[in-house]
Amino acid sequence: MKYYIVTYGCQMNVHESEKLAAICEKMGYTLAEKREEADLIVFNTCAIREGAEDRVFGNVGALKKLKKQKKDLIIAVCGCMTQKETTANHIMRTFPFVDIVIGTFNLPNFEYYVNAVKKGRQLEILESGEIDELVPYKRTSGENAWVNIMQGCNNFCTYCIVPYVRGREKSRSEENILKEIREVVAEGKYKKITLLGQNVNSYGKDLSPAVSFAKLLKDICQIEGDFKLWFMTSHPKDLTDEVIDVIANEDKILKDIHLPAQSGNNRILNLMNRRYTREKYLGIIEKIREKMPNCRITSDFIVGFPTETEEEFEDTMSLVEQVKYDSIFAFMYSPREGTVASKMEEQISQEVKQRRVNALLALEKKIQKQEGKK
Ligand code: SAH
Ligand code: SF4
Ligand code: F3S
Repeated sequence: MKYYIVTYGCQMNVHESEKLAAICEKMGYTLAEKREEADLIVFNTCAIREGAEDRVFGNVGALKKLKKQKKDLIIAVCGCMTQKETTANHIMRTFPFVDIVIGTFNLPNFEYYVNAVKKGRQLEILESGEIDELVPYKRTSGENAWVNIMQGCNNFCTYCIVPYVRGREKSRSEENILKEIREVVAEGKYKKITLLGQNVNSYGKDLSPAVSFAKLLKDICQIEGDFKLWFMTSHPKDLTDEVIDVIANEDKILKDIHLPAQSGNNRILNLMNRRYTREKYLGIIEKIREKMPNCRITSDFIVGFPTETEEEFEDTMSLVEQVKYDSIFAFMYSPREGTVASKMEEQISQEVKQRRVNALLALEKKIQKQEGKK
């Protein structure tokens, strides 16, 4: 019996698929090289933009033929898309050959759902869940080991679906994180450890007693061994001077910060509920460059947020020009059902969004050429 997992979305999902892989192997499945060979196919989905969802619909739909040929094939769709009830129901209705539809919170119970398929199709979405410490991971990312430090997000940026499909912030205990990292380092094959969270800078605020992200970083660096430490993602409103100092002072921490700005215009940042200004953001960049002149800095941007004018978009261009990032991701705003921004009037046309994203990426390319950055 063989399994095949198709993963969409962020590193968090990549890492959770490592958990799904461990569950499949515990059940006795081995990894299939391609989906046609599999007896169990799992789609771990992403809901961040419409494009991500469309790919899932297309790829799940394409399995209809395979399921006809192979009656015992089990098809499961899980992750962020299916945490939304309307989408989960839509998948159940549109694809009658899909056996399991579960959301993000019951992923640790995946084995239960596979076993239950014999009794019929399974659809279940839990509203929240505890961080699972019991199911192991089958690490699949070469020399890099992902380590989750928290789940969920409390920020509610007005464009973003994540808080709705991942719930509120919950930090893992520092003890459990350190234990996992000690074990990973002891295995000897991982040269890089990447801490994962939607907003790692607010790590530990919900623990009692609270633990700061700076303390967690320092404590991890005390672990003996030959490894580099990295983390993502940092929210500019929570990146403290203390964290910048720790990054600068600890040799083990990579000098590489992903600090999504999203926009260079204060009115748009306010509408996005990002809770910092262009000036505050630039102040953080300055501090980082002062302490670590060679630090890599990367960012994400959204163009065509509702009501964004040409001048406001130009502020994003000028921010990119000013910071001279090592690399950026630029996305066209995609309305997500249930979010505040999706209900705003004056949505920007696809044509304008496309033009703005092209302009931003062209600018980025030009800067990289000038600066000789990779
Ligand atoms: N927690 C991280 C990552 C969130 S998702 C953070 O706060 O930075 C990764 C990126 O997707 C975001 O930084 C944002 O640029 C983009 N994104 C999120 N929602 C989007 C939407 N509705 N439309 C377009 N891009 C979006
Ligand atoms: Fe989404 Fe904002 Fe949370 Fe990032 S910080 S996951 S963009 S709500
Ligand atoms: Fe996508 Fe979920 Fe990550 S929506 S970006 S897979 S948290």
